[in-house]
Amino acid sequence: MCGIIGYAGHRPAVPLAVEGLRRLEYRGYDSAGVAFVQNGELHTIRAEGKLAALEEKLATCPNTTATAAMGHTRWATHGIPAERNAHPHLSNDGTLAIIHNGIIENYQELKNDLLTLGYTVAPDAETEVLVNLTAEGRKQHASLLDAFAWALRQAHGAYAVCVMAKDEPGVLYAARLAAPLILGIGTGENFVASDIPAFLPYTRDVVFLEDGEIVRADANRWQVLRLADLSVADKRIQHIQWDMQAAQKGGFKHFMLKEIFEQPRVIADCMAGRVDEARNTVALPELDALPVPDRLHIVACGTSYHSGLWARHILESWAKVPVTVEIASEFRYRDALLGKNDMVMVISQSGETADTLAALRMARDKGVQVIGLCNVVGSSIARESSAVVYTQAGPEISVASTKAMCSQMVVLALIALSWAQRNDTLSQATRAQMLHILRALPAQLETALPMMHDTAQQLARTYAKARSFFYLGRGHCYPLALEGALKLKEISYIHAEGYASGEMKHGPIALVDPEFPTFALALDDELFPKVKSNIVEVQARRGKIIALTNPGLELSVDHSWVIPTVQGPLSAFLVLPALQLFSYEVAEYLGKDVDQPRNLAKSVTVE
Ligand code: G6P
Repeated sequence: MCGIIGYAGHRPAVPLAVEGLRRLEYRGYDSAGVAFVQNGELHTIRAEGKLAALEEKLATCPNTTATAAMGHTRWATHGIPAERNAHPHLSNDGTLAIIHNGIIENYQELKNDLLTLGYTVAPDAETEVLVNLTAEGRKQHASLLDAFAWALRQAHGAYAVCVMAKDEPGVLYAARLAAPLILGIGTGENFVASDIPAFLPYTRDVVFLEDGEIVRADANRWQVLRLADLSVADKRIQHIQWDMQAAQKGGFKHFMLKEIFEQPRVIADCMAGRVDEARNTVALPELDALPVPDRLHIVACGTSYHSGLWARHILESWAKVPVTVEIASEFRYRDALLGKNDMVMVISQSGETADTLAALRMARDKGVQVIGLCNVVGSSIARESSAVVYTQAGPEISVASTKAMCSQMVVLALIALSWAQRNDTLSQATRAQMLHILRALPAQLETALPMMHDTAQQLARTYAKARSFFYLGRGHCYPLALEGALKLKEISYIHAEGYASGEMKHGPIALVDPEFPTFALALDDELFPKVKSNIVEVQARRGKIIALTNPGLELSVDHSWVIPTVQGPLSAFLVLPALQLFSYEVAEYLGKDVDQPRNLAKSVTVE
């Protein structure tokens, strides 16, 4: 993945690029670097590790006069996270610098050609191939634009890429193929970046680049062309409404905690304008043009996949639509049988996850309509779906996803209710009851969150030393058990497995001993007696139990964590924050980097 920013304008460009990188660090933070032209020389400064390491280096270099620069924050794909693999990369002759997000799949082939021509290319640096190829192109083409386009036409794979030249100090050349790239249009300044927050303090006017487009921008002009023939592409400037405040921590220690506490507002925002309170109906005009599918295939990754697994229960039970749920990296390489009235739904917070995007394209190639559920407006998935429903959670900064999942589940519940309405598969009374529960959730969660936070803190102290955890759930709680385990793994680095309670006895229970605690989801529903039996089975093997449960249920466990009762699958909106807070507190107690866990990135734009 990686994040890139390019700036051409009138401000000190290097600090501006670093500031932009800070807001892109969610895309990776293995190394960072900048390039700029100063006193006729093209400089690159790079450092392994987080941005702070680059800032330390920059503090000792004079770089204040450059008014054009580009920066890169890296998530390692090819090559270990070392300074030598950090971007920007220079061409052998030192005249060009490049930053790149993506993977050049045929880099070995291109590298061999360059080696024959006398170039040197480091073993793992695929991006060096692109910059040297562009340098080679300059020998044969009149302009850098032509040379850059010539080089890019030979590259297969994915890229959001930006180039600067020693002899054109105020000009940026950038292009995109299967990786996000956005042009920011300012007054006397222009930007290119992987994501809008990188330049949001300076402009809200943006142009979304499409695959196969190349851009030339300086302080006062920008032009988008088609890579294939360098014909001019007709682009529209869009005005973004985002508030930068929304991306600040607002008094919380970490973005993750802030985002967990934002969930009551997220639920309310997500429903705003979509529920007619007087008539108890749901309006999702985004989906009006599409029929209710005969069968729905939900495809997603990570936490978004868990939202899909949870939604299967309500889509089948309320709307009577048969649902399959699959991980995108599996779905895309299977010859999935998609019926003519089937539909695919891709769920993605970022709207840029490479496997999910590929699954979407595969489905569309097969002639199937695709519904996109996205948080990031204007993202690739949002633009390429047949219809998009935005989850309206606001920017999610913490790498571990919390409020985005909550917002996805609200939208999925609304879709299930709206399809049930259209197909008349749910009584009006039940629909009204579900909408009533949904509407009550923000206030209910707002009240419950501080107490949940306290309990999570106390439990974290007791359990933070565990080396492994089971998370057990049944029915609609099983996907939540998977999510609970994922959250704990992601940020505390404690091994955790989510299991269907009933499946434990088919192997995993062999692992249970007094040092291997189990977090059981034992809510007040028809499956409670079964879950209780499974808990007893674990206790018989001397396993310790934390049970997340509801008032009035009889359970004898090590720690009973009682949360308010919400009927049926919508109880997830209270279960999920409890699981998130427990992971957060364990990670915090262990002193882990909560918002930027090791080896992860927020937006995974490589497969
Ligand atoms: C990454 C993130 C996860 C996220 C997954 C899918 O792995 O770290 O938090 O759930 O990608 O992301 P998406 O943006 O497609 O929902």
